[in-house]
Amino acid sequence: MPKFDDVLTIDEMQALARARVPKQFFDYADSGSWTETTYRANQDDFSKIKLRQRVATDIEDRSLSTSLVGSASSMPVALAPTGLAGMQYPDGEIKAAIAAEKAGVPFTLSTMAICSIEDVAEHTSKPFWFQLYVMKDRKFIERLIDRAKAAQCSALVLTMDLQILGQRHKDLRNGMSAPPRVTPRFVFEMMRKPHWALGMLNTQRRSFRNIEGHVEDARNLASLSAWIADQFDLKLNWTDLLTIKRQFGGPVIVKGILDADDARSAVAHGADGIIVSNHGGRQLDGAPSSIRVLPEIIDAVGDKVEVFMDGGVRSGQDVFKAIALGAKSAFIGRAFLWGLGAGGEAGVTRTLDIIRKELDMTMALCGERDIRNVGPHNVYSNDIPPRS
Ligand code: GLV
Repeated sequence: MPKFDDVLTIDEMQALARARVPKQFFDYADSGSWTETTYRANQDDFSKIKLRQRVATDIEDRSLSTSLVGSASSMPVALAPTGLAGMQYPDGEIKAAIAAEKAGVPFTLSTMAICSIEDVAEHTSKPFWFQLYVMKDRKFIERLIDRAKAAQCSALVLTMDLQILGQRHKDLRNGMSAPPRVTPRFVFEMMRKPHWALGMLNTQRRSFRNIEGHVEDARNLASLSAWIADQFDLKLNWTDLLTIKRQFGGPVIVKGILDADDARSAVAHGADGIIVSNHGGRQLDGAPSSIRVLPEIIDAVGDKVEVFMDGGVRSGQDVFKAIALGAKSAFIGRAFLWGLGAGGEAGVTRTLDIIRKELDMTMALCGERDIRNVGPHNVYSNDIPPRS
């Protein structure tokens, strides 16, 4: 295994995180649902896309800068909302948000984060994005939106593909919970991961701080799937998007779109952006990869809203391919969580540096010098995975 300072790829970062993060939390991030076919397809389909090499096009003074729903970004990459990042590393969401701010890319805080909206706001100076799940308790949702507004969050990411939690076998087998239950197996794990254990002892942030203390019945929260089954609103529909958009007042990005009709509905109900996503293969196993359906979503709504994607992005080359197929940016989830687990803020910074360098070099070797000019002409269209 490489030393932290020698890490060159996201795969190496993953290996380092595996060694440093307790198994139940490493597995939580690394899981897909059921057979993990969709989880694997996200990466496999990226590797099928071939890049068009070009020469002698003047590639001096290159720029990766872009703007994402009105926020300037130093490259077309954003940190995806991920549950329990504060269990990958002590105060994980704060550390990742600081790294994202320094790198000039958006950070999205999950509703199911360990650190709260207020914790992250207190430790950052630029606006971050907040991800919302719709629960039955609409008063709580209103309060969450108000808290995001008070923290000056500059976009709301509304996740619509997780009203029921997809079954992830590893979580059930590991008895995944936050805070972790102190079982003999966990104590043994702590002896093998002393850096993590000490860090956790030194922070108060060990449970779901967006929720605990804000919801009357948060007792069951340690069992994530039981709590979600209890609290998330199965009646979620498109009119909720209109209501939420009105309440928030700023840009709302709908996450979890894989179908062109759903994309059109999201736009018709006020979405300012869409994230083409299968939740990292963690929800509907058997669904296609995000990169595979991206072109048809772009055809449906690409001229009306900003379309982003996530799922399987493990390199700057993957980001480049997503941009070439029409995405305005790619979101990274596991890639930054592995950086976080491997080295906290420095690990996320390193992950973003690796991706930025790969993206820049790939763009140059494809003969482009401005990311805003990258498009379908940069890939071989017959290698774009088929749509059906
Ligand atoms: C939550 O977003 C999860 O995928 O576990």
